[in-house]
Amino acid sequence: MTDRLTIAQPDDWHLHVRTGSILKTVLAHTARQFGRAIIMPNLKPPVTTVEHAMAYRAEIIAALPQESIFQPLMTLYLTGNTSVEEVKKAAESEHIYAFKLYPAGATTNSDAGVANIAAAYPIFAAMEKHNIPLLIHGEATNAEYDIFDREKIFIDNQLSQITQQFPALRIVVEHLTTEEAVQFVESSSENIGATITPQHLLYNRNAILAGGIRPHFYCLPILKREHHRLALLNAATSGNPKFFLGTDSAPHLTSLKENACGCAGCYSAHAALELYAEAFEQADALDKLEGFASFYGADFYQLPRNTRTISLEKQSWTVPMDYGDNDNLITPLRAGEKLHWKVLA
Ligand code: NCD
Ligand code: DOR
Ligand code: ZN
Ligand code: ZN
Repeated sequence: MTDRLTIAQPDDWHLHVRTGSILKTVLAHTARQFGRAIIMPNLKPPVTTVEHAMAYRAEIIAALPQESIFQPLMTLYLTGNTSVEEVKKAAESEHIYAFKLYPAGATTNSDAGVANIAAAYPIFAAMEKHNIPLLIHGEATNAEYDIFDREKIFIDNQLSQITQQFPALRIVVEHLTTEEAVQFVESSSENIGATITPQHLLYNRNAILAGGIRPHFYCLPILKREHHRLALLNAATSGNPKFFLGTDSAPHLTSLKENACGCAGCYSAHAALELYAEAFEQADALDKLEGFASFYGADFYQLPRNTRTISLEKQSWTVPMDYGDNDNLITPLRAGEKLHWKVLA
């Protein structure tokens, strides 16, 4: 049995670190494990310009632990007002790595997102031309669609057309949750990649709903049935470079999660790699973790792979009930429960 695992330092290709009071807490957790992370732009107001992204980047760098060499890779939030000029400017910036498409109303702070996706086609054309990736929260938002069907409907109604119209546009289908999404990515060109979160590899929808309602497992896209989880686990451990690590760690204050109208998002940055290791071990595929966590995302983004290494050890530890200070508590995934892998400091 493997009890120590050393791999190239991983990167997190989908991360929310927020701004202000909780930034420092959550960033330290990520910087302990990851070399780089794609930083999501869904702040209030959203990060829609290169200028705003540069200011946010400076705030992140100022909040890093001393001597950290972690690099935030910034993204811009696509709106109905995003211009072709801003796409060019972003592509030319050495610090902007992608645009993020949130269909309007799909998730946290997505009100400013794109209501009419067809109207954004000239912007997709500019991204294709300037070779800057498009990251997609792939859920249809029409209120009449069942929440468990929204990913599949988005693929059928929107994504399949976008990939056909813009064959050279590099697209990351973020946080896959269904077997259909896995099949779509597998059957698409090499320009289509996908991230998979730890919660979607480890849990199905029973975790939210069976035996009591558990808000800390509520995220969007919502956890699905077990056969979908198994399809995701298969994809992540297959060695197919289209699938790579993106935690979607999405901290919300405990008071806003344990609430009559709780926010969507699982906080996983405190134990991200440990959670992935558990999932890969479950599939008897720990030998596939390095490609998924440390190689394929960098390759997709056309960035060098990290050269430092990181080690995990088989070691039990109990996840704290919360992180942060008293006014800003965050409940992590698996709070109060045991994990069986530990990243060595
Ligand atoms: C500058 C750039 O990319 O040249 N960013 C920007 O706001 N356009 C500064 C930089 O990236 O270092
Ligand atoms: O659960 C989610 N939380 N899904 C998202 O897409 C956004 C995220 C957040 O920002 O809280
Ligand atoms: Zn999302
Ligand atoms: Zn996200």
